[in-house]
Amino acid sequence: MNYRHAFHAGNFSDVLKHAILSLVIEHLKQKPAAFRVIDTHAGTGVYDLSGSEAQRTGEWQSGIGRLLGGDLPDEIDDILRPYLDAVRAENEDMDPPSQSALVRYPGSPAIARRLLRRGDQLVANELHPGDTAALARHFAGDPRTKVLALDGWVALKALLPPKERRGLVLVDPPFEEPGEFHRLVDGLKEAERRFETGTYLLWYPIKDPKRTRSFLGKLADLGYPKLAVAELLIRKPVNPDLLNGSGLAILNPPFTLAKKLDVLLPFLARRLGSGPGATGEFRQLSGTR
Ligand SMILES: C[S@@+](CC[C@H](N)C(=O)[O-])C[C@H]1O[C@@H](n2cnc3c(N)ncnc32)[C@H](O)[C@@H]1O
Repeated sequence: MNYRHAFHAGNFSDVLKHAILSLVIEHLKQKPAAFRVIDTHAGTGVYDLSGSEAQRTGEWQSGIGRLLGGDLPDEIDDILRPYLDAVRAENEDMDPPSQSALVRYPGSPAIARRLLRRGDQLVANELHPGDTAALARHFAGDPRTKVLALDGWVALKALLPPKERRGLVLVDPPFEEPGEFHRLVDGLKEAERRFETGTYLLWYPIKDPKRTRSFLGKLADLGYPKLAVAELLIRKPVNPDLLNGSGLAILNPPFTLAKKLDVLLPFLARRLGSGPGATGEFRQLSGTR
């Protein structure tokens, strides 16, 4: 387990993932019934952008930094509000959100926790002992959050279905081992069997587009009636050694999501793109909108 998210926190891919995570949680809040967020590969919770890891790569500067480096059109500001509220909550003097005031960046469990209501629950699972300890410190004494140290692929089966029978599962593996694309497909199949009404967000990298197409083909073959993808390419993927983009496969997306992502993703491609061929797109893999 060499992957450390501290090097990448707040990059373009986190912006995509965390903005969508926030929108799905906000949709779940439209009904009074309680729900659960399960984060199978949670990381540490909050990241210090002035720390040596973040400074070494500077990735956050072309992600959340660039997002906040210019004015946001009103429509985009509205769509991003829950996400940016969570970012603002980790930083002082952030009203309105601005690049220069950024010091800390919330990871997925911190964003999810910030958006929960009384009665909703978060399970933050992380296998790396140092990160699990950081998560446990971050959420110490919080009755709405449970921190676990299971293998994420075991957690994906063992924690489903949640007792609320409503919720969201984020599967965000590091893609440092071969076979993670297969594990995502198999993991989703197993998880859906246990909790078919849940919303699932599966993160994947876009390096070699052929590899991505093959993965998405296998997901589509599962035949689910509602499966979509949200993708952000920051450049044309000509060099398969680079992280040219990333995506979230979304099983059972809320019906409110398509309209927002049709606006947000092209905007993110314009704001965060780093070369010709930057695009952002939400599309169905199977079923209709
Ligand atoms: C991409 S990071 C997670 C980032 C986090 N979800 C966020 O958005 O802020 C992937 C995490 O998975 C952890 N990890 C690696 N292998 C794992 C496994 N088998 N089970 C659970 N966590 C694992 C890594 O330590 C790392 O913190």
